[in-house]
Amino acid sequence: MEKGALLYEGKAKRLYATDQEDVLFVEYKNSATAFNGLKKAEIEGKGILNNKISTIIFEQLKQQGIESHFIKRISENEQLVRKVEIIPLEVVVRNIAAGSFSERLGIEEGTALKRPIVEFYYKNDALKDPIINNDHIDILGLATKEEVETITNLALKVNEALRKIFEKIGVILVDFKLEFGRDKDGNILLADEISPDTCRLWDAETKEKLDKDVFRRDLGSLTDVYNIILSRLGGN
Ligand code: C5P
Repeated sequence: MEKGALLYEGKAKRLYATDQEDVLFVEYKNSATAFNGLKKAEIEGKGILNNKISTIIFEQLKQQGIESHFIKRISENEQLVRKVEIIPLEVVVRNIAAGSFSERLGIEEGTALKRPIVEFYYKNDALKDPIINNDHIDILGLATKEEVETITNLALKVNEALRKIFEKIGVILVDFKLEFGRDKDGNILLADEISPDTCRLWDAETKEKLDKDVFRRDLGSLTDVYNIILSRLGGN
């Protein structure tokens, strides 16, 4: 598979065309960003860790019947994915109060929610990714009502599957962010990445943070905790 032109560069990944119309190359970068890009760093090894972790998670989701854009990992920091048109929504699922949810609603971090909840954020850097509701999604023309329903159901299904994956390795899935796209036939497909960059993961025993909050809050070495997640998932 030939790596073609650079199509898109995001904060954490680069997307390249390939010689196949519906397949893209994803390169995971070492850049870490937080607070809408206000905090930035280059962290050696981060791209490799997230590529490997995301690969294992997409493969395990597939085993549980959840399809995604992931095709296969092809190098330390690259994977092949199916091409989709990304819907500009950040779909956040929460099991336990933390982060912006705790700040916005004054609910103490660590408080278990009585059921998982789904939130939508408009993926728009200039607007700083505001939280939006179904009406906003409709008025902005981001997705149809049917698509929002499909996405909500899929996000909750991913939550159940991910909770099991992490429970087995002694990790609590606090919350996470998903992105979805449309394939060439208009089908909704899980896309982007699932990694400690996009999930809050706490050690079940010690409640130690094993995710990007280590970087956001200056709690220690990001690669040390991402390595813990990778090795518990059975990676190297
Ligand atoms: O910051 P907040 O509490 O809203 O984040 C909820 C979850 O979504 C966290 O797991 C965080 O890592 C993830 N997230 C993300 N990308 C963003 C915003 C949040 O992966 N742009």
